[in-house]
Amino acid sequence: MITAKTVREILDAVRIEEVIEDFVSLRRRGVNLIGLCPFHHEKTPSFNVNPTRNIFKCFGCGKAGDAVTFLREHEQFTYPEALRWLAKKYNIEIEEVELTPEQRAADQMAESLYIVNDFALKHFQEQLFDTDEGKSVALQYFRQRGLREETIRTFGLGYAPDLRDLLLQRARATGHSVELLKKTGLSSADGSRDFFRGRVMFAIHNLSGKVAAFAGRTMSNDKTVPKYINSPETEIYVKNKTLYGAYQAKKAIRQQDECILVEGYMDVISLYQAGIENVVASSGTSLTEGQLNLIRRNTNNLKILYDGDPAGIKAALRGLDLALEQDLNVRIVLLPEGEDPDSYVQKVGSEAFLEYVAREAKDFILFKTRLLLEDTKGDPIKKSSLVKDIVASIARIPDPIKRSVYQKECASLLDVAEPALVEETNKLITQSLKKQEERKARAPEAASDSPDAQPNPEVPVEDPAFVRPREKNMARGDEYQERDIIRLLVQFGSQTLPEGISVAEYILADIEDSLGNFDNPLYGKIATECHDLLFQGRTPDVEFFLQHDNPAVRELAVDLMSSAWELSPNWEERYNYPLQNQKPPEENFDLDARKAVDLFKIRKIEKMIQVMKTRIQAAEKEQDDELWTRYMKILMKLNETLAEIGRKSGMVVRPK
Ligand code: CTP
Ligand code: MN
Repeated sequence: MITAKTVREILDAVRIEEVIEDFVSLRRRGVNLIGLCPFHHEKTPSFNVNPTRNIFKCFGCGKAGDAVTFLREHEQFTYPEALRWLAKKYNIEIEEVELTPEQRAADQMAESLYIVNDFALKHFQEQLFDTDEGKSVALQYFRQRGLREETIRTFGLGYAPDLRDLLLQRARATGHSVELLKKTGLSSADGSRDFFRGRVMFAIHNLSGKVAAFAGRTMSNDKTVPKYINSPETEIYVKNKTLYGAYQAKKAIRQQDECILVEGYMDVISLYQAGIENVVASSGTSLTEGQLNLIRRNTNNLKILYDGDPAGIKAALRGLDLALEQDLNVRIVLLPEGEDPDSYVQKVGSEAFLEYVAREAKDFILFKTRLLLEDTKGDPIKKSSLVKDIVASIARIPDPIKRSVYQKECASLLDVAEPALVEETNKLITQSLKKQEERKARAPEAASDSPDAQPNPEVPVEDPAFVRPREKNMARGDEYQERDIIRLLVQFGSQTLPEGISVAEYILADIEDSLGNFDNPLYGKIATECHDLLFQGRTPDVEFFLQHDNPAVRELAVDLMSSAWELSPNWEERYNYPLQNQKPPEENFDLDARKAVDLFKIRKIEKMIQVMKTRIQAAEKEQDDELWTRYMKILMKLNETLAEIGRKSGMVVRPK
């Protein structure tokens, strides 16, 4: 593992414009550089590189980050790969530390599994291309299905002859371990027979192009034989985080800013060969959250091609609310009866295929509404359950504007009053927010589950509390104060104040009591996580945020860095805070930090004052003197604290 010291050295040496210029041609505009975004297709440049902050941001597609993020996204590097690339560029010698025995064992196991799969791939390819039987049977089969040799190679197709243990024999002869063959499922559990026999083979790649698993298809039409058999799950093959074809498709998905989802291996291969390369398959199962995450890292636009019967499609639609929640734009295309993507593209060609898809693509929610409406046929009970179903889908959409568009359209489709739909949606949203709050209240320490965990970008950990910051509809409550606290943590967390402590320490020590009171769960979680980090003697710095394993945190960090010059609105009028911003914010973090903390505390105290006032009123009504006195005392204490902050900061705090 690369040492923290080397990582620091590398990151200090990196100049983002030098890195990006290796891939994108940039020209200067003011202090920044701009160019054509490599992550989406554009004609006028909206890709910005900011050398001062060492970050890039595309104002077209929203991709943003530092040099490491750029390399990981653009070159599909892992985190360590990106660091090694940078070290080479800047002639930095890499210092490594020993892994723990467990880490090393896990690494080595994964590595050996890849090696054995690679050996098997070569074997299957050899059997396909270099043996008489392979050529006459399997290659012939692929050709007859319309595949060209180049395609066959791109997708790592092969052939496993119908022999008891050919692969096992080969493995023994070349010094590969039978144990590993068993583990990858390439042989039977007792190591006596090959698992794949008499089948054409499909390699299943991981995102960086290594072979994670195989599928084997029978060449016979015998319905009693399973059409496909697949490798079992292993350390390197987790089905619900794998999308077939993703390795071959990812570049095209980014460029076209759209992902096409089909069902089968052959559909992916056939479309790819026809020049439609942004295509992946869920391999016959409904989409999982892990797969959606894979997609969302590359695009927000998902087009799903269905070829099944209406019943199958209805079942499939059920799983798709998850996609709405992730703010994906989902469109549905039904293929003509009797056709799947493979057969249809081979029949009409790519141009007509694309035309059809463009013409037939229907918005997911409207499609679902129409499809289910057909079944209700005026039955009021069925209809009311349909309305509930649709409302549940709409409520999942994070963007309120999008929601209202759907409410309007669906109200008219369903022939129900729009306000009723709106009310139902809001009820569901409130319910789910409440549940979130409860979860937060139950597990306030959730952020510190793995205290010394390095940000590990390879394993996207989904945490329900870590929802994307829904800035647009969350700009309520204490959004500005909270955001400012987080901004200071991100930008200046590791800087030192005159007292000799870091900005992060100052801020977090002072708001410790309020860590559980953030309105915005993401901000609250970040603050808590930083707090725990400090507790372990580490200081959160910019890299910590930019390399965070949660994409929402990374995005937020970049946003905050690029919005450094904005001040929260209304500060001056509202609190009459003496702004002394002659110095630019990056030199002014000292004052900024104190101010942000003060404002944050004021907001929280003001809130508690409101709560106390209502309680006092209630106690009065109930004539509960004891409670009344207790709350009154708290209220006075809160007012004192407020005045104290005002006095120290020179702020005029208006009594509430
Ligand atoms: N599948 C599977 N096991 C089966 C059948 C199907 O794993 N016994 C998965 C495969 O990923 C397959 C997908 O479901 O690709 C869709 O099935 P199907 O449409 O039957 O397969 P195609 O890929 O279209 O294959 P072909 O065109 O060769 O029939
Ligand atoms: Mn098919």
